[in-house]
Amino acid sequence: MANELNLYWDQIYSNKSPHPLSWPQEFPTASIQILKSLNLTVDSPIIDIGGGDSRFVDLLLEAGFKNLTVLDISEEALKRAKLRLQEKAKEVKWIVTDILDFEPSESYSLWHDRATFHFLSAPSDIHKYLGIAKKHTDQYLIIATFSETGPRYCSGLPVRNYSEADLIQELGTGFKKLNCIREDHKTPMGTLQNFIYCSFKKIS
Ligand SMILES: C[S@@+](CC[C@H](N)C(=O)[O-])C[C@H]1O[C@@H](n2cnc3c(N)ncnc32)[C@H](O)[C@@H]1O
Repeated sequence: MANELNLYWDQIYSNKSPHPLSWPQEFPTASIQILKSLNLTVDSPIIDIGGGDSRFVDLLLEAGFKNLTVLDISEEALKRAKLRLQEKAKEVKWIVTDILDFEPSESYSLWHDRATFHFLSAPSDIHKYLGIAKKHTDQYLIIATFSETGPRYCSGLPVRNYSEADLIQELGTGFKKLNCIREDHKTPMGTLQNFIYCSFKKIS
């Protein structure tokens, strides 16, 4: 059912909003660098949370991964991705939902989130998101947010900024940090946005 937040994001992706898309990357360098370090097998279930029309899924398909899901609150965003991928889109599961309403029917080897988690600000929402992520991730989490030196807003919405220590503390128990890297993302408008990407492994 449509709510205010998905209408907001649909507008952004329909170019009907005054906020231009600042986050798209030609190549998701940091995400791919971390992915390669994890040595996942090609049948590992992978989900991209708030994947929008990111090319991360294209690269996963090219690398031979066969069990891919992209979730986003905006149907418009996923339409763009499907249009880009054409026939290949049929090899991906597409889920339109607010992440806070997501009730996964499977577990994922990798839960990847670039620039979605940081929109959550209420402690109860952050807690709920991490509860879903931790429960339904068997192996690895990658969470990328604006860093403590990054912007305070994205697409007209406030974001929460994280340092490495903040992310580790917020994640809490059950996962251990593997690595955190920073990336200066150059927006299509030419400005720089400092991101932090942290990867975590489930402790069995
Ligand atoms: C800044 S964009 C990042 C897109 C993509 N991850 C990338 O790196 O190119 C944030 C994305 O999160 C989606 N989003 C925002 N809030 C969400 C929510 N509560 N649940 C699911 N998706 C959400 C938006 O529609 C948008 O596609």
